[in-house]
Amino acid sequence: MTRYDYVVIGSGIAGLSFALKAAEHGEVALITKSNKAESNTTYAQGGIACVTSPEDSFELHVQDTLVAGAGLCDEAVTRVLVSEGPARIRELIELGVQFDVRDGEASPEDSATAELDLTKEGGHSKRRILHSRDITGREIDRALIAAVEKHPRIHVLEHHMAVDLITLSKLGFASEDRVLGVYVLDENTGNVKALRSDYVVLATGGCGKVYLYTTNPAIATGDGIAMAWRAGARISNMEFIQFHPTCLYHPDAGSFLISEAVRGEGAILVDKNGRRFMDRYDPRGELASRDIVARAIDAEMKRTGARCMYLDITHKPAEFVRERFPNIASTCLKYGIDITKQKIPVVPAAHYQSGGVQTDADGSTSLRGLYAIGEVACTGLHGANRLASNSLLEAVTMAHRCNAAILRTRCPDETAARSHFALPEWTSGVAQDLDELVVVYHNWDEIRRLMWDYVGIVRTTKRLQRAATRLRNLDREIQEFYWNFKVNTDLLELRNLCTVASIIVDSALLRRESRGLHYTLDFPTPDESQRHPTVLRRG
Ligand code: FAD
Ligand code: SIN
Repeated sequence: MTRYDYVVIGSGIAGLSFALKAAEHGEVALITKSNKAESNTTYAQGGIACVTSPEDSFELHVQDTLVAGAGLCDEAVTRVLVSEGPARIRELIELGVQFDVRDGEASPEDSATAELDLTKEGGHSKRRILHSRDITGREIDRALIAAVEKHPRIHVLEHHMAVDLITLSKLGFASEDRVLGVYVLDENTGNVKALRSDYVVLATGGCGKVYLYTTNPAIATGDGIAMAWRAGARISNMEFIQFHPTCLYHPDAGSFLISEAVRGEGAILVDKNGRRFMDRYDPRGELASRDIVARAIDAEMKRTGARCMYLDITHKPAEFVRERFPNIASTCLKYGIDITKQKIPVVPAAHYQSGGVQTDADGSTSLRGLYAIGEVACTGLHGANRLASNSLLEAVTMAHRCNAAILRTRCPDETAARSHFALPEWTSGVAQDLDELVVVYHNWDEIRRLMWDYVGIVRTTKRLQRAATRLRNLDREIQEFYWNFKVNTDLLELRNLCTVASIIVDSALLRRESRGLHYTLDFPTPDESQRHPTVLRRG
C-alpha cells in the first residue's frame, strides 16, 4: 500500500490543473490509464468560453448557458463558474498557453497583453471563445503537462487504471461511509495495488465510447461514473448525452470532429443538393444550440434517406480557412476532401456527457473523501444541454475550487486517526487468465450498437425498455467474467461501459418529457413538473 495526500485519477485538463494546485500542499499521485497526453482534452478543437471582451458580460454568458441548459442549469453554480473564468484563463496564459491573438502570430507574451481572437459557437450571443487555432485542447495540455513534469511532488503513474474505490463500507465498517483510497491496475505488470489517500479526485472524463459513433478517443469509457456508482455516490442527469452535429463522415476517418467554430466562422449546413435546411428548424440557423442542430441533421437524414449532410465553408477565402483551421483542413485533405473547395460530409456523433457524479460547487460528491471535477462531474452548469466550449471552462474552474475547498476543510487530526487503516491487498483468488477475449469484444460491440440504435438522439420508451433488458443480461454475463477471470483493461472497461449504459437508460426512462438533449417521441414536449435533475444511486 502506498500513501499520498491526494490521489487524482485522470490527466486531462481537470486532473492536471488540480494536481498542479494540490501539489503546493502535499504529495500527489496522478494516475492515468494511457499515456498522460491521451484524454478528451487533447482533442478539444473549438476553444474555451470565457468573458474577456468589453462587448461581452458575465450576465450574457450566464443567460446563454441557462438557455442552452433548457431550464435545468443550477443558476448559482453557473454564475460562480462564469465569473471565475477570467482568473483561470490568466493562470493558463501564465503557464504558457498560447491563445490566438488578433491580427498576428500568437506568443505567450502576446496572449498576456494583446487582444485575444475570439470565435463563436452555437448558442453564444457574443464572440467569447478563446482558442488556439483548431487545436485548443492540445495546446492547453502541452502547457499543463510541461508544468506537471517539472513538479517534484506530482508522481505521474502512466498506464495505471483505477479499478475501484476503497470505502469504509467495503471494509465492513457500518459507520458513516467515506473513501479511503483506490485499487489501481498497473498495466505494465498486470498487478493491482492499493493507493491510500483521504482525498481521491475523479477527473476521468466522459463516456463517449458507450456509443458506436463518437467523437471521443478510446479512453472515454465512463470509468469514473461506474466507480462512483459502485461506491454508492449519487449520479445525476445521465440521460443528457450530447451528440455533436458535425463529425466527419468518411469510412476511414474514425471519429474526427469538425469543430462548431467552423460554423461560427460562417460555414452553412446543406443537403447533397446544396440546399440549406437549418432555418426551417431554428431562427438562429447553424448557430442554434447543439441539441437542436444535431436533431435537425438527424431528421433531415431520416427524411431524405441520406447517409450524411454537408458543411460548406467554400465561400470563405481559402487562405483564411487554411490558417484558421489547419488541423481540420489537413485531416480532411488526407481523406481527399479539400474543404476550401468541397463540402464536408458530416453526421452527428456522441460527444459529451452533460450529467455525471453529482457534486456541489466545490467538487464534493455525496461520498466523503471523493471529489469529482471535469466531464465526469455534474455540477449543474450544463443542465439538460451543455453550451459549447463551457466544458474546458468548467474543468479548469472546478479544479481550482476543489483544491481550495479541500484546503479549507482538511483536518490533519482526523487523517492521523485513520492512518492506522491498512488497506487490504487486492486478491485474485482462483481467477484464471481470460482466454475468451472474443466474448469481451462481442459484448463491447453489442453495448455500443444497442446504445446507438435504442438510446440515441431520438428515443422511445419501448426502445429504452428493450435496451434496459438487454443490458441487464449483459451485466450478469460481465459480472461472471469479472469474478472468474484476472482483470485486464479490456474487461474492466467493458464492465464500466455496461454500468454506465444502464445508468443512461435508467435515467432516460425516469424522464417522461423531452428536454434539452433528451428527446422522446412518447413525451415530445417539456413538462414543468419534471423540471428537476434526475438523481440515481445504487440500490
Ligand atoms: P479528459 O480530458 O477526458 O481526461 C480524462 C483522463 O482520465 C484521461 O487521462 C484518461 O486516460 C483518464 N482515465 C479515465 N479513466 C481512467 C481510469 N479508470 N484510470 C486511470 N485514468 C483514467 N470542450 C470545450 O469546452 N471546448 C472544445 O473545443 C471542445 N472540443 C472537443 C472536441 C472533441 C473531439 C472532444 C472529444 C471533446 C471536446 N470538448 C470540448 C469536450 C472537452 O474536451 C472535455 O469535456 C474535457 O476535455 C474533459 O476534460 P477532463 O479533464 O474532465 O477529462
Ligand atoms: C467543437 O469544437 O465543436 C467542440 C466544442 C465543444 O465541445 O465545446
